[in-house]
Amino acid sequence: MNVLLTGGAGFIGSNLVRLLLLERSDWRVVVLDKLTYAGNAENLADLEGSPRYRFVRGDICNGELVAELCRREGIDAVMHLAAESHVDRSILAPSVFIDTNVRGTQVLLEVAREVGVKRFLHVSTDEVYGSLGATGVFTETTPLDPSSPYSASKASSDLLALAYARTFGLPVVVTRCSNNYGPYQFPEKLIPLMIANALRDRPLPVYGDGLNVRDWIHVEDHARGLLAAFERGEDGQVYNFGASSERTNLEIVKQVLRHLGKPESLVAYVKDRLGHDRRYAIDATKARTKLGWAPRHRFEDALGETVRWYVEHRPWWERIISGEYLRYYERQYGARS
Ligand code: NAD
Ligand code: DAU
Repeated sequence: MNVLLTGGAGFIGSNLVRLLLLERSDWRVVVLDKLTYAGNAENLADLEGSPRYRFVRGDICNGELVAELCRREGIDAVMHLAAESHVDRSILAPSVFIDTNVRGTQVLLEVAREVGVKRFLHVSTDEVYGSLGATGVFTETTPLDPSSPYSASKASSDLLALAYARTFGLPVVVTRCSNNYGPYQFPEKLIPLMIANALRDRPLPVYGDGLNVRDWIHVEDHARGLLAAFERGEDGQVYNFGASSERTNLEIVKQVLRHLGKPESLVAYVKDRLGHDRRYAIDATKARTKLGWAPRHRFEDALGETVRWYVEHRPWWERIISGEYLRYYERQYGARS
């Protein structure tokens, strides 16, 4: 199996590449990644030299490049993770989210159709469902109701992928997962940002009242779900992934502080995110029953391990939080308190 994996230098992509090379000894994985601010070749450095892995720097919006790559590498299937992935950036500057997430996905779908792939795994998100109130859960039939330019762009690409299945018979499977945590996550997202700030005794910027709820899943459990959906998913079907670990943002931030032995006085309430979704919660019954998938990590233990990973890999995130990151941080948090 020759797989084209887009976005492999990012957080989930790099964890997935590592899992695939470990668990599927007859697979070859070709990573296509533009190396935007969020892509980091260092995340895959240990795989260099493996004959079953190749890295190509390039943009998924470039149809010629993608088609040529698929032909040259004899690509059988696509795992599509490349995206602009941060909600706050989509509020500051939405255009690139349309370019990459919508247009880029359509380019890939078109090439996949031309080449005749056996599987197109489209990695969507639970954010396409919008926000829940105090009760209820997202199932695969919950109507899409995205709130941010990010989630609207993901909903567009999700529907495009399903349309290619229905119209052209492309063997598409779509996955919608809840919030991931674990190693190699870019420190603009809640958990790594709070760890990096706490380790430097900087304020931890909690949006609004801190009572928004996310349903956390370890990245390795998500990666195993993606593999299960890729191998055992039915064409044209959607699968939700989540680990039933709902926590308020404030609970998360306080747990991070406890793990690091830092005081709660570091918590700083700041102006809320625009259009901030209140609560996400996933019903993953379909993935459990149809794919035989189940999460393996317990949130409290795995959060502790994750905090330790960032403590032990300080040079990794310190290199990232310079340059472009500093300009983003100032724009996002400078005038917010
Ligand atoms: P990330 O931002 O860490 O990584 C995205 C990767 O895509 C980066 O390596 C980046 O360089 C690459 N990329 C961006 N634009 C590109 C382009 N035009 N061409 C080629 N490569 C490009 O994101 P992530 O958190 O790893 O998310 C991966 C996927 O999973 C995304 O599609 C995201 O919507 C989805 N998802 C994420 C989560 C989560 O909690 N992080 C949950 C559910 C779904
Ligand atoms: O649910 C899946 C989605 O999870 C993915 O599709 C996205 O790619 C991923 O970024 C994530 O989106 P969120 O917006 O939920 O994640 P983020 O880490 O940005 O924020 C999590 C919660 O924490 C959210 O309620 C906003 C809050 N927050 C975030 C940051 C960065 C803060 O209170 N302060 C912060 O500084």
